Amino acid sequence: MAEPRSRGQRRGAPSQGAPDDRKLVLDPARAAALDVLKAVRVDRAYTNLVLPAVIKHYGLEGRDAAFTTELASGTIRRRGTYDAILAACTDRPLSKVEAKVLDGLRIGTHQLLSMRVPDHAAISTTVDLVRARVNTGAGHFANAVLRSVSEHDLTEWIGRVAPDPRVSPTRFAAIAYSHPEWVVDELREAVGMVELHDLLAADNENPLVTLVARPGRSTRDELPGTPTPYSPYGVVMDGGDPASVPAVAEGRAGVQDEGSQLVARALAEAPLEGRDELWLDLCAGPGGKAGLLAALAAERGALVVANERLPGRAGLVRRTLTDAEGPVAGVAGIVASDGTLAPYRPAVFDRVLVDAPCTGLGALRRRPEARWQRKPDDLLALVMLQRQLLRSAIDLVRPGGVVLYATCSPVISETSIVVSSVNGARADAALEDLSAQLTDVPDCVGPVPGTVQLWPHRHGTDAMFMALFRRAALA
Ligand SMILES: C[S@@+](CC[C@H](N)C(=O)[O-])C[C@H]1O[C@@H](n2cnc3c(N)ncnc32)[C@H](O)[C@@H]1O
Repeated sequence: MAEPRSRGQRRGAPSQGAPDDRKLVLDPARAAALDVLKAVRVDRAYTNLVLPAVIKHYGLEGRDAAFTTELASGTIRRRGTYDAILAACTDRPLSKVEAKVLDGLRIGTHQLLSMRVPDHAAISTTVDLVRARVNTGAGHFANAVLRSVSEHDLTEWIGRVAPDPRVSPTRFAAIAYSHPEWVVDELREAVGMVELHDLLAADNENPLVTLVARPGRSTRDELPGTPTPYSPYGVVMDGGDPASVPAVAEGRAGVQDEGSQLVARALAEAPLEGRDELWLDLCAGPGGKAGLLAALAAERGALVVANERLPGRAGLVRRTLTDAEGPVAGVAGIVASDGTLAPYRPAVFDRVLVDAPCTGLGALRRRPEARWQRKPDDLLALVMLQRQLLRSAIDLVRPGGVVLYATCSPVISETSIVVSSVNGARADAALEDLSAQLTDVPDCVGPVPGTVQLWPHRHGTDAMFMALFRRAALA
């Protein structure tokens, strides 16, 4: 992270090749955004995790902090569109432009085309940053490129640089909505052509923060905002910092997308005959759903085991499931173990959640960099693991008990294909009609009959997929 420099600080005359910060007044909010881009590019950092640290480092607050957040997140999200525009404004391929300069060009373009920053301010502040971080020559280059970018608005630029959608629909959508082409293809297969553009546009929105009131520990009335339409536990914040909400600070409530709340609710509300005492969250890290499940279990005298393969993430689960007095009500234990080889007796649990590791392509609104970091090759290994985890969960649930399989991805190979293949291979378990259980959620029928698929553009949630299996009762 670069040291913030005091305004107007002078240094000796630089050469053309050295960073030039003579008389430059670098805007800390923009310098901070550039640092976030670098951390995401070089360290593969998560935007949402690195932003608070950078904002703190620069001492930004209020509007400045919000400006940095929008500048960094928006630039990273819209990189696909901006790079197509920048390629049309430069005399060399973008692969030949130094990475630090390209980062500067991208933040300049976001200010020019998507934020209400006057052209002269967007260009001059970006050029100053590039001069200071790279050199005077790079500053001249950035000035020329950004002046070209400023000649059109975003819609005009997309008309100029994206191909005819009737000829190249995938490439058009990739440029217009800033998604890699393979992601466009996967999402089209999942949502269909008619709604594809609405989905891609929703992925580029900044989602509002949703809070969950963990039953028995807090209520919705304690939380600021508007009640969520489908989850009885959620509130959508109108703005502000969730950490400043007392119930959140005390761990009695948390930040959780409404779709994730519905996953926990679907598992807890699945009809069950007989014993209902021991639940398992097989892939629990970092613990969002386990927090809600433990609260729901405690209300009916049941207990949850939270299992997570990675010890570090199991530690995060422990933080969610512990208060000053120890484990919160409803928690039987937190275990760091591989869910495909989990150390539990077969058929011991009454309800099991498999919130499987997945591509996360249903949560692109929340993770600006995710679409660029995921690769199509990731899919095969994930799908194999998802199948193994689902099979393991079915082994662990008692006859008559239920397993909820969930992904925050609508990609068909992670949803239909996993569910259909396990359903076909297991004579001792069957898919149940979960969409009939979630009758208050409209238009949520998933790709396999009985499964549920939520969508950002339809439901305002992440694109969560859910399927409910029931282990056959003993004859
Ligand atoms: C989608 S996340 C779960 C999110 C979590 N349920 C929540 O609501 O906070 C999937 C988790 O599965 C974990 N995981 C990956 N492979 C696993 C395995 N073989 N056994 C158990 N957990 C695994 C990952 O480390 C990750 O924490």
